[in-house]
Amino acid sequence: MQQHILQIIYLIASVTFIGGLKFLGNPATARQGNLIAAFGMVLAIFGTIFLYTTEMGEHLHNLGFIFGALILGTIIGWIVAKKVQMTAMPEMVSLFNGMGGACAMLISVIEFRHIMEALESPSGFLIGMSENITGHILAIILGLVIGSVSFAGSIVAYGKLSGKVKDKSLGMQQLINIGLLVVIMVLSALIVMGNGAYTVQLFYLVFTLSLLYGILFVLPIGGADMPVVISLLNSFTGVAAACGGFLYDNKVMLVGGILVGSAGTLLTIVMCKAMNRSLVNVLIGNFGGGSTGEAATSSSFAGSIKEVTASDAAILMKYAKKVIIVPGYGLAVAQAQHIVHDLELLLESEGVEVKYAIHPVAGRMPGHMNVLLAESNVSYDKLVEMEEVNPEFATTDVVLVVGANDVVNPAAKTDPNSPIYGMPILDVENATNVIVNKRSMKAGYAGIENELFYKPKTSMLFGDAKKALTQLVSEIKALG
Ligand code: TAP
Repeated sequence: MQQHILQIIYLIASVTFIGGLKFLGNPATARQGNLIAAFGMVLAIFGTIFLYTTEMGEHLHNLGFIFGALILGTIIGWIVAKKVQMTAMPEMVSLFNGMGGACAMLISVIEFRHIMEALESPSGFLIGMSENITGHILAIILGLVIGSVSFAGSIVAYGKLSGKVKDKSLGMQQLINIGLLVVIMVLSALIVMGNGAYTVQLFYLVFTLSLLYGILFVLPIGGADMPVVISLLNSFTGVAAACGGFLYDNKVMLVGGILVGSAGTLLTIVMCKAMNRSLVNVLIGNFGGGSTGEAATSSSFAGSIKEVTASDAAILMKYAKKVIIVPGYGLAVAQAQHIVHDLELLLESEGVEVKYAIHPVAGRMPGHMNVLLAESNVSYDKLVEMEEVNPEFATTDVVLVVGANDVVNPAAKTDPNSPIYGMPILDVENATNVIVNKRSMKAGYAGIENELFYKPKTSMLFGDAKKALTQLVSEIKALG
């Protein structure tokens, strides 16, 4: 009876995961989506703890450890999530994702030991899996390899995003990575199909090599390319968790893992498309790179930069017919989302048409700008995606770039040696006037100079975004 109730709980939890994902698809319902899926997860966890029984009718023991870990994890997760800055979210996502990978990896290690112990026992009998040892070991190895790569890769990604680890490319990186992958696959096949000789040694060798591959695969990736890797690692964790679902014949783990795996894969593909990169190159660790993350301080471009004062910028914007605001990472750093919304409302009250141009990788995580602007109640229909907004720049009087850099860098179209070459960008230079607000001439995330700042149509409004926009708003108001 208890098992039937547990299966119904798993079904309900699976439905909440799917419903939650659906709600996450729209910024207006995203918060609700998160809560719905979290409710399903709580249901599945407590259902498992209290209702799960083994084939021999035993309930879970070690409840003290289980609840200790649950309480500790909840407290740490709660505090970290409460304290994290919006701009540090990708680091946190990476770290949490690494924990998921570590879980899958540890499950595989433990279950492998169980199987080995059972095989060595006099009866050699494995309850519930005696007929399908090969399938079982296959799920264990898949969970081990994918989980380890995801864990090690996510920790390196966390280090890189938080500036603790620098980009590092070994010579012949592609060959080394492909070689490692092939060795891991061959050894894994030997474990699954082999006759048992050296199985334990091979298992721990595969474990070590997978961790190494995770590190080597993420280490050289740099510049503007990290978001794709994080999303890919996220999908790896999902697949590794799904392997756990197979292993334990646990439907909710299977559904949850598959959902994370497929959502992560779709996001990876969408981001690759947005940045014009190939997924194969990501997998062999030859993706972008070359960025130092250091600031460009001297220019190699013809032309000079032109500064604009807040009062001149105010005149230009107040008397414009159409203004497009391009938000970037600096807007998030400055927490200028509320004042930018005030500016939008003020300009609209003056009869100016105002829109926001949203580049798919603006900021530091997928949907960063959407989330940020939603926080200040900017209406969703004002947020226009890149493909849709690009043709509009030609009929725009003023583009106001706020704390964005790489996503408006023409080098992506003109300089084949640039690390961002091929990435579609916002064609802001087609507008009549471009005002760029940032604090200095320093580079953005990809660590490269931006010719846009030297173009005759461009003027620089230097200063922290929140301060500069506040001044702009008061200057427009002062114009009456
Ligand atoms: P960036 O190219 O990083 O440029 C941001 C600019 O904001 C900087 O040049 C900086 O110049 C300026 N800034 C920083 N603090 C500021 C402040 N308080 N006030 C005003 N300006 C400030 O940003 P982007 O154009 O949004 O491009 C995003 C980049 O990050 C891309 O390369 C993207 O691939 C990468 N990335 C994206 C993601 C996702 S998924 N969105 C994740 C990781 C990385 P100053 O220092 O001179 O002020």
